[in-house]
Amino acid sequence: MTNPVQTETVSLSRDLTPIEWQHGRLCLLDQSRLPHEVSYVHLSTAEETARAIREMRVRGAPAIGVTAAYGMALAAAQDGTIAALRSAADELAASRPTAVNLRWAVERMMRVAKQSPHDADLAARLLAEAAELHRETLESDIRLSAFGAALISPGSSVLTHCNTGALATGGYGTALGVIRRAWEDGRLCHVFTTETRPWLQGARLTTWELARLGVPATLVVDSAAASLMAGGRVQCVITGADRIAANGDTANKIGTLSLAVLADHFCVPFYVAAPVSTVDLGAASGDDITIEERPEAEVTHAGSSPIAPEGTSAWNPAFDVTPGRLIAAIITDGGVARRPFEQSLAEVAGRG
Ligand code: MRU
Repeated sequence: MTNPVQTETVSLSRDLTPIEWQHGRLCLLDQSRLPHEVSYVHLSTAEETARAIREMRVRGAPAIGVTAAYGMALAAAQDGTIAALRSAADELAASRPTAVNLRWAVERMMRVAKQSPHDADLAARLLAEAAELHRETLESDIRLSAFGAALISPGSSVLTHCNTGALATGGYGTALGVIRRAWEDGRLCHVFTTETRPWLQGARLTTWELARLGVPATLVVDSAAASLMAGGRVQCVITGADRIAANGDTANKIGTLSLAVLADHFCVPFYVAAPVSTVDLGAASGDDITIEERPEAEVTHAGSSPIAPEGTSAWNPAFDVTPGRLIAAIITDGGVARRPFEQSLAEVAGRG
């Protein structure tokens, strides 16, 4: 089968824009090739967009929400009937099931389409709505990062997991946005980032973003987190989220739960940073969150090289759920929520 996605390799000096609309196509910085190759994919249909999300050429909950919104504009340019848009929305939302931002973004686009379904300019209206959603996502990153930075005690070293920076969001970052802002404010001393097996978002993407920002960072294997905390080398842990239930239970990259349990054991505050669009008040608890399972080959192989004997079976859940009781605070663009989360999350969700 031919690959409909066009790949172009560009020079490292070009300004990096992770998600951009260019001449009627959606242009994504291909995160599956970073950090060694800076290349872009150009997408012309909603199907190509869903495939790019599934293949993790773009990843991170807010970024896939923005991408899916542009995917709906591409769908409208091909067939603007409500039935065709519904089918595109369902395909995009199903491309990665855990991050609620995807469903949230495509449903927002569907609401706009339904307002005047026979509008000859529907594709242009959906494109404008996607650009507005993109702009709002960037703004919410910046707002929540300021709230979060204020929680970091001056002189702290922090531990983070996965990648939650400009690549994963509207263009600034959530947990990594808090870290970036705390660094700019002179509050942060050092960042430790986990590798984040198996896809290595921490080793490949977070290290790359922190180096570009000039923030001092050290990469550790996921299993070094206990030693870091036991040695008093981190003053807090901060991660992003893919979906936050009404009671504060938080789905995030696999391994987040281990970090939260360790942080509880070592009395290190564990913070989650995410926009209000990641809060799903329709999910009462983590039991209502679907956890995506990804191909075994991501575990049995490093890239295309096998690391386990042929035929080894692997279990590869992409996310786990951290109970709200292990989370010191959830930092959102609507403010900082603390336990009991049922009340505080409903309040911040109204302000985001
Ligand atoms: O599988 P990924 O790389 O999409 O998982 C990303 C995460 O788990 C992030 O922590 C989360 O989406 C928040 S990104 C701001």
